[in-house]
Amino acid sequence: MFEIQDMSTYKEVKKITTHVLQEMKMRGEKISMLTAYDYSMARIFDDAKIDVLLVGDSASNVMHGFETTLPITLDEMISHAAAVIRAVNRCLVVVDLPFGSYQGNSKEALNSAIRIMKEAEAHAVKLEGGAEVVESIKRILTAGIPVMGHLGLTPQSIYKFGTYEVRAKEDAEAKKLLEDAKLLEESGCFAIVLEKIPSALAKQVASEIKIPIIGIGAGPHVDGQVLVSHDMLGINKDFSPKFLRRYLNLYDEIKGAVEQYVNDVKTVDFPNEKEQY
Ligand code: KIV
Repeated sequence: MFEIQDMSTYKEVKKITTHVLQEMKMRGEKISMLTAYDYSMARIFDDAKIDVLLVGDSASNVMHGFETTLPITLDEMISHAAAVIRAVNRCLVVVDLPFGSYQGNSKEALNSAIRIMKEAEAHAVKLEGGAEVVESIKRILTAGIPVMGHLGLTPQSIYKFGTYEVRAKEDAEAKKLLEDAKLLEESGCFAIVLEKIPSALAKQVASEIKIPIIGIGAGPHVDGQVLVSHDMLGINKDFSPKFLRRYLNLYDEIKGAVEQYVNDVKTVDFPNEKEQY
């Protein structure tokens, strides 16, 4: 497998599908993925040629202000997903099944996935966990709905883990993660997100598993990267994990613009002669 070094060797693709992602892995082209929750941002990201948009349940934190991802509902996820889908032409849109909509009941998992595909017109769903959710994954796949897995730090289980620290540092947990990844591949998942695990373990998973492995805080030796857009754009100022690269400081940019606007209104600088009828 070769590593693509410069943008000129990228294959121009009109529409990203799960098959295109598999081809990208095979030819060593890295997959770019970001979260999106609304129409306007999704439009910009799609125009910038992002490969995959994830309507993540991180919407619970960054859009709704909850401390964890647990409170967001299926109805709310469908509303975010439908807005994102209306914006995109090229990228693949994957939607998180929220906490409580798939665990422990494969029939409910299927119904939740069908609602996301039917009401939001999404392209695929993602859910967290390994062996314990395989029955749900298999049942969703019977309806022809593509499923992305998610292992490592799985924020919907935060009350079980107790912390957002790096996962699978010990041998036993690393072994279980590798087994779970193999199980997800065998079950028919088209890709897996690995969150906050040691780089060496992520490298091993990506080389032993044939489906694309997308990392967040999992180092460079995987098939693609995902970040929460609010973090990489610097809208979310207070979250600075080691793995995050911040491309903008939108919090300060937006705050500055709003302060300027407030001042302009108060001083009747706005609207001026040209800004009225
Ligand atoms: O919900 C989310 O944003 C996610 C990413 C962290 C992968 O699941």
